[in-house]
Amino acid sequence: MESIVPVSIDKAKCVLVIGATSGIGRALALAISELPSCPTVIAAGRRQDRLKELEAKNLETLELDVTTDLETLTETVDSLVAKYPQLDAVILASGIQYQHDFTKDVDLNLVVKEIYVNYLAVVSLISMFISHFLKLSADGLPSFIIPITSGLGLMPAPQVLNYSASKAALRSFTTSLRKQFESTNINVMEIIPPLVESELHDEQGITERLSKFWMPLDEYTRKTMEGLRKGDSHIAAGMAETVYKRFEALDQVYPMN
Ligand SMILES: NC(=O)c1ccc[n+]([C@@H]2O[C@H](COP(=O)([O-])OP(=O)(O)OC[C@H]3O[C@@H](n4cnc5c(N)ncnc54)[C@H](OP(=O)(O)O)[C@@H]3O)[C@@H](O)[C@H]2O)c1
Repeated sequence: MESIVPVSIDKAKCVLVIGATSGIGRALALAISELPSCPTVIAAGRRQDRLKELEAKNLETLELDVTTDLETLTETVDSLVAKYPQLDAVILASGIQYQHDFTKDVDLNLVVKEIYVNYLAVVSLISMFISHFLKLSADGLPSFIIPITSGLGLMPAPQVLNYSASKAALRSFTTSLRKQFESTNINVMEIIPPLVESELHDEQGITERLSKFWMPLDEYTRKTMEGLRKGDSHIAAGMAETVYKRFEALDQVYPMN
């Protein structure tokens, strides 16, 4: 376990939520905008109608496709930081999920896309914010990198094996990233959701079945906001919390030289 002093999201002045047009990202963006600290919240995603709806709720918005080429993505991040120099928190909520059956034909384009959106794009985006966050850190200011992984990153679900693997990769990366930044003011927090009410499963046509088991979004958001406000390094809920507690030792890392 880390001995890092917890820093609350209440300290954040400007929070970017990538993947804020629906589900967990949208709910967290709205809940954070209502914190007593009144941070600026920037909601990012592809769907313009959803962004307009969030603008009407006084959120700032950014039309963003995380699969855009790396050069354009870097330019987008640089202009965002120039426009919002106080930006000090990024929640990486964008994600997609597909079912694959490797005993049958597998669409490798979807396999690659899933890894790209859920892992490579998140890692790329994080790396693009680091120089800005290190500058804040040098001025004694805290910042927050908050990827959303999944309970399936701890214990995989065979029908969504590639999704589970993408989240396991992101969990591993996040764990090491926290270690790399432990002597800075950059706080790496991991949100680990269980099955939660959202649009994630709509494309697979299994939303109705899952709705019998999932955690309602309001309940999930309340619980996650508690963890963010306490400054917890790992914010799990429901079944993901149970599994996380069982496998907690996996958050250990080899010593750095
Ligand atoms: N719900 C669950 O049961 C559950 C469980 C564990 C983990 N999670 C994780 O929680 C996070 C939020 O998912 P959710 O459940 O809230 O699903 P959701 O309602 O489907 O939301 C996914 C978000 O990702 C954005 N997104 C997808 N592809 C994108 C792209 N190429 N560029 C930019 N944004 C993109 C979507 O926005 P646009 O379509 O507008 O771009 C949307 O805002 C995901 O990382 C998911 O893996 C969810």
